[in-house]
Amino acid sequence: MPWIEHDHADVAALVSHVTEAFVDACRTAIHARGQAWLALAGGRTPLPVYAQLAAANLGGVVSAIPTDERCVPHDHPACNLRALREAFAADANIVPNALTREDGDVDASLAQSRALLAVNPQPFDAVLLGMGADGHFASLFPGAENLAEGLATASGIDAIATLPDPLPPEAPFARISLTLPRLLHARDIHLVVTGADKRVVLRQAQADPDCAFPVTTLLHAPGRHVHIHWSP
Ligand code: 6PG
Repeated sequence: MPWIEHDHADVAALVSHVTEAFVDACRTAIHARGQAWLALAGGRTPLPVYAQLAAANLGGVVSAIPTDERCVPHDHPACNLRALREAFAADANIVPNALTREDGDVDASLAQSRALLAVNPQPFDAVLLGMGADGHFASLFPGAENLAEGLATASGIDAIATLPDPLPPEAPFARISLTLPRLLHARDIHLVVTGADKRVVLRQAQADPDCAFPVTTLLHAPGRHVHIHWSP
């Protein structure tokens, strides 16, 4: 199997297991390389993991970026950076970096995200991804006009600006997203999914490498073993 499955009895068990994996990844990185470098999903599911990481006393500096960002001002309720800043407020050593400009301007944000990734070419110590019921991960959405650019493994492109189509009602904004190759440039990749409906999507993506859900390309990426964490 190109993935490693972790099934959990409930969300609390999932959160505690994923937190443990990230605590280990951060401590190992800090010990080996002086600091840790993480890419962290937006959305709601991972927020308790971030809160627990902030309370874990990781013992050094952790630099984090969102895997994707909504092109909104940084003080907007839908801003992933804002959510990371709030979740990590208890530990000043965990530093969230912005993919977007303060005002959320799309073109300037794309330039900023690419510049940030260019000066940080090292692999992520760990990546946390969520998945939507439409099979998107990061902001690589099935209906986006430039989805293929985001999923192309040999593009050499670190980030794209993209417009989900249809726009998700809970966050109807243009996005900046890391590309699949940039997300795969990581020591460990964790995909965190809850609920029976999303499990059906996962199962289809696992069973059929040609299935149209974007997450299929992540799960079947050659040479990678994505950790899939699921709970009801
Ligand atoms: C975002 C994301 C996105 C998210 C999934 C799952 O900013 O919207 O990074 O890919 O992880 O939509 O979101 P939930 O955890 O809220 O279900």
